[in-house]
Amino acid sequence: MGHRIGFLGAGNMATALAHGFVKAGLADGADLAIYDIVAEKSAQLAAAAGAKPAGSVAETLKRAETIVLAVKPQNAAELLPEVAPGAEPRHLFISILAGTPTRAIETRIGGSPRVVRVMPNTPALVAEGASALARGRWATAADLDTALELFRSVGIAVAVQEEQLDAVTGLSGSGPAYFFYLMEALIEGGCAAGLDRETATALTIQTALGAGKLARSSADGPAALREKVTSKGGTTAAGLAALREGGFEGLVKRCVAAAVARSKELGKAAG
Ligand SMILES: NC(=O)c1ccc[n+]([C@@H]2O[C@H](COP(=O)([O-])OP(=O)(O)OC[C@H]3O[C@@H](n4cnc5c(N)ncnc54)[C@H](OP(=O)(O)O)[C@@H]3O)[C@@H](O)[C@H]2O)c1
Repeated sequence: MGHRIGFLGAGNMATALAHGFVKAGLADGADLAIYDIVAEKSAQLAAAAGAKPAGSVAETLKRAETIVLAVKPQNAAELLPEVAPGAEPRHLFISILAGTPTRAIETRIGGSPRVVRVMPNTPALVAEGASALARGRWATAADLDTALELFRSVGIAVAVQEEQLDAVTGLSGSGPAYFFYLMEALIEGGCAAGLDRETATALTIQTALGAGKLARSSADGPAALREKVTSKGGTTAAGLAALREGGFEGLVKRCVAAAVARSKELGKAAG
């Protein structure tokens, strides 16, 4: 039997997840309960996933055992007090509320709720996400496995300790934007060298996709792959030398560190 899953919030992430779960056969559309404060959004996602919308938080909790908390973090303060009265021991709460510690969710729901916290990233929208999951105080190893299985339907999913989620946020959570920024710069570089924008954009995106696929499918790590395409005195070596001169590696490390520090700050405010 598939999971009976309820979504609280029917935005971008909920949409990606609902489709992923159904496509992977982890849940039947009919077993999904979808609730959004905007009824039109519940209806829209429910129709797309072959599910029935739920009319309230309470109905969602009644119809499902696994509850995905999929509102924006700033809406959690209004949502969780509504969840509290209907929460039962049979519920597993999966939170994708960025930067919100499990402890804050547990406290607001009250009792000893089983909470697994997830940091997904936007490529989950095309089933190429990278998610890291951590369990709260009362979630079991089986709960973590359930959540891992669900998130593997939209990409890869790994288990980490909750204190590592700030590092995850700074790396893979914010990571898509770093790659987009690198792509923007490469496109500008291509244009400056004489390509039209459309051609430079197409070549850049395909190169990023190809490099990612090659890195994923190869037994070699990124460093070995880079060395393989860098012949001495060649064009790639010249390009990489310019990056090194500009302090590329140190800059990227600072970028991740800054995002991690910001994630910690936001987590303190939310906790
Ligand atoms: N998008 C990403 O790539 C990404 C990555 C990592 C983590 N996350 C996390 O995933 C969560 C969802 O993100 P998203 O991009 O899917 O957000 P979103 O598109 O804004 O979806 C959230 C939905 O929840 C609705 N909502 C607000 N308050 C509600 C309430 N009290 N009860 C029920 N529904 C309510 C919102 O309605 P209104 O629009 O009317 O407010 C909206 O439709 C966030 O916590 C975010 O931090 C997202």
